[in-house]
Amino acid sequence: MTSTEENTPWWRSAVIYQVYPRSFADGNGDGTGDIAGLRARLGHLAGLGVDALWLSPWYVSPLADGGYDVADYRDVDPAFGTLDEAAALIGDAHALGLRVIVDLVPNHCSEQHPWFQAALTAGPGAPERELFHFRAGRGPQGELPPNDWQSHFGGPAWQQTADGAWYLHMFAPEQPDWNWEHPEVRAEFLSVLRFWLDLGVDGFRIDVTDHLVKEDGLPDTAGHHHTPHPWRDQEGVHDIYRSWRALLDEYTGERTFVAELWEEDPQRFARYLRADELHTAFNFPLLRSPWDADALRSVIDATLAAHALVGAPATWVLSNHDTTRHVTRYGRADTSYDFDRAARHGLPVDLPLGTRRARAAALLTLALPGSTYVYQGDELGLWEVEDIPDHLRQDPTWLRSGGVDRGRDGCRVPLPWAGAEQPFGFSPERASAAPWLDVQPDAWQALSVAAQSGDPDSHLEFYRAALRLRRQEGGLGDGPMDWQDGVVAPAVLDFTRPGSFRCVVNLSAAPVPLPPHEAVLLASEPLADGKLPSDAAVWLRAAGEG
Ligand code: NOJ
Repeated sequence: MTSTEENTPWWRSAVIYQVYPRSFADGNGDGTGDIAGLRARLGHLAGLGVDALWLSPWYVSPLADGGYDVADYRDVDPAFGTLDEAAALIGDAHALGLRVIVDLVPNHCSEQHPWFQAALTAGPGAPERELFHFRAGRGPQGELPPNDWQSHFGGPAWQQTADGAWYLHMFAPEQPDWNWEHPEVRAEFLSVLRFWLDLGVDGFRIDVTDHLVKEDGLPDTAGHHHTPHPWRDQEGVHDIYRSWRALLDEYTGERTFVAELWEEDPQRFARYLRADELHTAFNFPLLRSPWDADALRSVIDATLAAHALVGAPATWVLSNHDTTRHVTRYGRADTSYDFDRAARHGLPVDLPLGTRRARAAALLTLALPGSTYVYQGDELGLWEVEDIPDHLRQDPTWLRSGGVDRGRDGCRVPLPWAGAEQPFGFSPERASAAPWLDVQPDAWQALSVAAQSGDPDSHLEFYRAALRLRRQEGGLGDGPMDWQDGVVAPAVLDFTRPGSFRCVVNLSAAPVPLPPHEAVLLASEPLADGKLPSDAAVWLRAAGEG
């Protein structure tokens, strides 16, 4: 952790590594990543120099949506291990100085959740159904969905049950939405929060933060002319987070919330980060931005301005388990991103260019004020696996979109750890099964942790060096930054941080001279005749006071 003040909470400046447990490391050889595999590899994360882990869901789940369909919020799925192992992992991580953030999925559960099963059995009109959004259908026989809402995974957001009633699912039909107007739902989640806090977790990543409360009456979106949409960002959601924050603040140890929030309006975004609500939220505008100096500059300025409204620290996110890996995005002709995987799938990709830009983007984001997320495999320079055979695709978006959207499997491919044979150390030798998503590219042999370790030019060693420096630089993380406009060249991002630290990113087509400096701390590419090449970044010890 870096901070300008000793007493700054860790989460204002942290580097947080996202673990997608299924694909991180398989300890027991059944082809699925698990807690045993993660515990065995914690040294990689401590050595990398991150401050915390965020674990995508490990709860009991039929995995209809990779674990974002939770059947038991207080236990770990046997595919991943046991609750005792989870507790041991938290202990191991803490012993290594790593905090642990778990994923919380409050908008919906799994259709296998006992309360949903009880609601199905209880039948129309039963109180058990009030915990969810059950409605009669429209049409003479109730054969049409109750309203026109569409699921994010394609098709209507309603599923009809055997007795004719419909229930709401904003994601897959296997993910019924909770009714947050019901006090039992509220009480249950407060209890779940306590359960994991008592087990020692340092915080929660909140799934689809803005969806919990729906507009009264569940009105159609057609003809609904005011914002927000009736299924998101309702005023009532803030009361929920206030109650969560009050509970969290009862605990010692700087526990924290990070919100998954795809909200474009900066004012509305900032409302979730008020002092008595959530601590931080993922910054998706950066992830969507093209690799372009003006675009990135305006995202950075808008981000800092939005967070300044409420005094919250910004976060910087380049990739996660839902989005196309940025090595691939930055290697395309159009480097922007907008969930249009179908339209962009299979477009030409210049991987060396994307990799080069990814290194520069790492230096940029690690130098900006606030905290930064690293998605597993970012540190290895992994790219999106786009040529997955259709029959191996597992993401529900693939099936629900009728094969139009290729889904998110391409960023969830098991990590390469070592060796010359697939699965490159993801599973132990003599594993009983192939990886659950058995599509690692052969070229990942050269990108494994073992293959890159010790090679000073490798992506991994570059990340290690950057994270080491970030820890040493007292002016990084939370705190002020100052643009140094017009000093170097157009299409260059150039800013200073306290402690005479300067970051320069060259997004122009030609090499640019470096500003006056005392030392080069780290460059994403070798300098050419003292100049910073195109699509490269450098950290400098600036001349004089920064
Ligand atoms: C966001 C999660 O990141 C994604 O993986 C999931 O499919 C949806 N929320 C639904 O839970």
